[in-house]
Amino acid sequence: MCGIIARIGHGDATETLLSGLENLEYRGYDSAGIAVQNGSGVKVHKTSGEVADLKATLDTRPSGNIGIGHTRWSTHGPPTDENAHPHTDTAGDVAVVHNGVIDNYDELRAQLQSQGHEFHSDTDTEVIPHLIDEYRQDSASTEQAIRKAIDTLEGSYAIAALVDGEERVYAARKGSPLVLGLDDDEWFLASDVPAFLDYTDQVIYLEDGDLVVLEPDSYRITDLGGTPVERPVDTVDWDPDDAGKGEYDHYMEKEIHSQPTALANTIEGRIENGTVSFDDLEPGKFADIDTVQFVACGTSYHAAMYAGQQLRTAGLQTAVIRASEYETSAGPIDESTLVIAVTQSGETADTLDAVRTAASHDAQTLAVTNVVGSTAAREADTAIYIRAGPEVGVAATKTYSSQAVTLTLLTQRLAADVPEATPVDDSEELLETLEDFPQHVETVLETSQARLLAREFMNSTSYFFIGNGLSHSVALEGALKFKEITYEHAEGFASGELKHGPLALVTEKSPLFAVSTGDADEKTKTNAIEAQSRGAPIVAVGPATSPLVDVADAHLSVPDTHPVWAGLLANVQLQLVSYHAATLLERSIDKPRNLAKSVTVE
Ligand code: G6P
Repeated sequence: MCGIIARIGHGDATETLLSGLENLEYRGYDSAGIAVQNGSGVKVHKTSGEVADLKATLDTRPSGNIGIGHTRWSTHGPPTDENAHPHTDTAGDVAVVHNGVIDNYDELRAQLQSQGHEFHSDTDTEVIPHLIDEYRQDSASTEQAIRKAIDTLEGSYAIAALVDGEERVYAARKGSPLVLGLDDDEWFLASDVPAFLDYTDQVIYLEDGDLVVLEPDSYRITDLGGTPVERPVDTVDWDPDDAGKGEYDHYMEKEIHSQPTALANTIEGRIENGTVSFDDLEPGKFADIDTVQFVACGTSYHAAMYAGQQLRTAGLQTAVIRASEYETSAGPIDESTLVIAVTQSGETADTLDAVRTAASHDAQTLAVTNVVGSTAAREADTAIYIRAGPEVGVAATKTYSSQAVTLTLLTQRLAADVPEATPVDDSEELLETLEDFPQHVETVLETSQARLLAREFMNSTSYFFIGNGLSHSVALEGALKFKEITYEHAEGFASGELKHGPLALVTEKSPLFAVSTGDADEKTKTNAIEAQSRGAPIVAVGPATSPLVDVADAHLSVPDTHPVWAGLLANVQLQLVSYHAATLLERSIDKPRNLAKSVTVE
């Protein structure tokens, strides 16, 4: 977690750093800071709180053409002013921002303290500027000192450093993302592209072991031994408007409403003559697969469950495994296992670990991600992109919908490739009806009564979400979204499980959202009635044709369509319920407490 940024060029760096940090706050917002180098020393400004709090502390903007910045999600030490980055050496000549975890910081700190270095924070990061300072004393150059410092570090890092009197930014990465942005007269480094997307779409995705030295008119990339390395320049096809809030109050609101466009991008060019095609997946690619394992976390796990259900129906041996449990729960893995990592960011540490474990057992690996050049995309054997555009709100919305659609299409491809699979009977109808899906999402957004219901149930004690078959994972996702941004107690269950414990919590103050796809809803109907007879108000979420609607106290309606798409439309209704409930409760919608969008620690 944490977001880092650096900028070097001829004009002033401060505004660029601050706006870039705002676009990185999805990675953490416990504290924020910048260091600017302006020819009269390195000036550090930092505070606990968000980038807005940092801006408020700056009476006048510090000026300088070179700067680094950081927004933090705390790992080592609480979110205090002292623990905010940048951190410096004792004299304040070397300033460093860092994303990652330094495993051997305890011993390094003790050693540096015994050499006279003074520490002021609880962070692991603070050892880095002190190490650089220490090594500068007997190195031919700062660059050499930085190489030595990096060589001493154990753990993961993306770092950017400034040194007093030097018109340079030094940066390196190992295990944490770092992208170089190339504009006409300025260079950027950041944890993610939205930090500088307003300025340039020309990027270099740096690799582990790369060390970068940026000067106002040149940049150099070398390996840790100092040998120059060539990295390709890519063009990012995200629109800079995607990175701002536009006319909306919150990123989450904007992202919910941009789903019709995002989904149209997801689908474009992927259905040809009634069959699914992905650029990098030639027909027959999966012919020798006998088992599919999905690995994912959080919302991505729910999208994977949605696809897993469909793949099982197609007769494929399928498991959907929480990435953090993969090492202990994966069971047999070999070269006929396909491991599909579902990860919006492509940087989730647990998911990357699972991919590495799978690869070490010779499994074939496939990343389904939103971020081109992300670690998952680079490490997996193959990557396919969900093409949702950048998502900033911590609570995932449009990326879930785009993941679920991409994975549904992938399921069709797998069912066509694997001889043991029985392609789903209604495959033709599924693909045909997908064409209308973005428009159906638009209809839900325009007609939803979610805000009224959110207001009606505002004083409830718990919120329950149930579904069976395909709608089970939609119920889990509905509950996750609700708790993430409202901080209210919300739980999702397979409908039939309600009577095996959770029913003890059901009262007239625990509304129950029963998700339907318009197919096999009888079980959910029975279980909803069981809760209703204990006083719980029931909200049917699904097509008007569902039998659930007959018994429900309220209905959030979705257009009639194929059950696979109906389930995802029900999810859009639940996104709106969560969003409106959280705004009515005046919660921090885009930056819910304690959470971060991209979790790069285990
Ligand atoms: C964090 C986010 C979730 C996200 C999960 C997995 O917990 O808060 O919204 O679903 O990480 O992220 P990924 O980038 O791997 O999809």
